[in-house]
Amino acid sequence: MKVEDVKNVCVVGAGNMGHQISLLCAIYGYKTKCSDVVPEILKKADNFVNTYLPGRVEKGKLTKEQAEAARNNISFTSDMKEAAGDADFVIEAATEVLDLKRKIFADLDKFAPAHAILATNSSYIVSSRIADATKRPDKVLNMHFFNPALVMKLVEVVKGPHVSEETANVTMDLCKKLEKVPVFIKKEVDGFLLNRIFRVIGKEAQWMLEMGVASMEDIDKACVYGAGHPMGPFRLMDLTGIDLTYIASMEAFRKSGDPADLPTPSVVEHYVKGEYGEKVGKGWYDYKKPEKK
Ligand SMILES: NC(=O)c1ccc[n+]([C@@H]2O[C@H](COP(=O)([O-])OP(=O)(O)OC[C@H]3O[C@@H](n4cnc5c(N)ncnc54)[C@H](O)[C@@H]3O)[C@@H](O)[C@H]2O)c1
Repeated sequence: MKVEDVKNVCVVGAGNMGHQISLLCAIYGYKTKCSDVVPEILKKADNFVNTYLPGRVEKGKLTKEQAEAARNNISFTSDMKEAAGDADFVIEAATEVLDLKRKIFADLDKFAPAHAILATNSSYIVSSRIADATKRPDKVLNMHFFNPALVMKLVEVVKGPHVSEETANVTMDLCKKLEKVPVFIKKEVDGFLLNRIFRVIGKEAQWMLEMGVASMEDIDKACVYGAGHPMGPFRLMDLTGIDLTYIASMEAFRKSGDPADLPTPSVVEHYVKGEYGEKVGKGWYDYKKPEKK
């Protein structure tokens, strides 16, 4: 298969990442079907499309015709079988739980045409832990977008030992068609490139906060004004989801047995309170609008 053969895209999961990956594909001309198991999430994603596209037209970033074409290219459904049925390329962006992803891939293997590539947007899980749930392991790989997917240019493409040259090449080429900047990762490591680097920064930031060295606001400011990061580690965790930080740390600990990999006490505290960050209105920072009197 060549990238020119990719016409229909299926995205599984319409959450934080999935709805934006879907819209990105639709804007670049791909017929895109996005599935989720939660009706409210599908509704929210559809509403996002309806407000985002006119906004881009207003800003002069898209013509009216381009916005209309994108709207026609994208649809949302609760039926993954229907979404994957005619897909040439599938991007799974469901919850970061290994068993769930394995189940989704086993189903996708039955629903999607035999030629379809099945990519996972997982932040930490390497595709060799998922590929054997299918009968096409050579077509299963990591394609890791960054948040927000409509904005961030980087995509990490990981060629695990089971992945064919063709699969890796088509995926790299698809990233370029979407005007992303793909990096090619030659070996599987949990968390790939950038999240491994951010994990170290995040852990150090949390340690300094817990030791009372500085406030989270000042730690964030140091990274923004001293290192030129677009946002500091606490703000970034709120954006990506503290639930994701917790799950990834627990998974790292399960693999290594090293207590240093456990989530820090402050991450555990936010996690058990359900304070996952911006998406729920509270994480390290408070995002709830003050109630009108
Ligand atoms: N949040 C980030 O910054 C970020 C960045 C890059 C990659 N990722 C990865 O992307 C994936 C999704 O993360 P997210 O932040 O969008 O999570 P999220 O919780 O916002 O969305 C996940 C969605 O998956 C849906 N889902 C669960 N089971 C499903 C199923 N069987 N079929 C269809 N949908 C199902 C959930 O209903 C939910 O809407 C994860 O693997 C995560 O590691 C996240």
